[in-house]
Amino acid sequence: MKILILDTAEKVGDYAARHVIKRIQETKPTEDNPFVLGLPTGGTPLEMYRKLIEYHQKGEISFKDVITFNMDEYVGIPENHPESYHHYMWDNFFCKIDIKPENVHILNGNASDLTEECAQYEEKINKAGGVDLFVGGIGPDGHIAFNEPGSSLTSRTRVKTLAYDTILANARFFDNDISKVPTQALTVGVGTIMDAKEVMILITGSHKALALAKAVEEGVNHMWTVSSLQLHPKAVLVCDENATMELR
Ligand code: F6R
Repeated sequence: MKILILDTAEKVGDYAARHVIKRIQETKPTEDNPFVLGLPTGGTPLEMYRKLIEYHQKGEISFKDVITFNMDEYVGIPENHPESYHHYMWDNFFCKIDIKPENVHILNGNASDLTEECAQYEEKINKAGGVDLFVGGIGPDGHIAFNEPGSSLTSRTRVKTLAYDTILANARFFDNDISKVPTQALTVGVGTIMDAKEVMILITGSHKALALAKAVEEGVNHMWTVSSLQLHPKAVLVCDENATMELR
């Protein structure tokens, strides 16, 4: 696992966008052999999405031969809810690029059989040939995707009850009312992320500093699931200066 420290969150977003573009271009994807990109939601990747849209509009990158798999989705809120991850992804990214709608994959948090929905998601990832690059963020408690503290490090896509800290952190998107925040989500597992050929995690802000220190300076620990990336052969944590405040 590598760590890359950049001055600001803006630079982290720009680096991440350029890295995604570089990998897509290196792979020379085609319709029959597309690039498979794993994506997060949240505040952290917004700058990366803005930059990717900008580079796309300048003609530097096309997403027509890219397949995406999102990390997670809330259970029980409609897809058109302003805080659903479906809405987030289309609003902030997909509707502004040339991706084919059939190439976008986001877990269905309203499926009648959530366990089956998760099993099928794993199957779709396998059928696509695995994820070439998984981009993610972390929570202040060190979660990746919605793999909350205590998650198995071999977990696969499944239903997960959100930790109280995550519900609190996400209340800012739900009128600061924790009673409106969904309590469950569908999420790829730590094992699903570890199977990606490459993982790039974006970490910005001093509120993530403790999680970064745990991920880097302590051992692999299921209470800080991001630490599992120490065992990944091609993982990079891209951080801003503020996130490094707790590093020794
Ligand atoms: C989002 C996701 C989460 C977030 C994390 C950080 O799809 O899987 O793990 O990446 O909660 O969120 P922000 O970036 O809002 O601090």
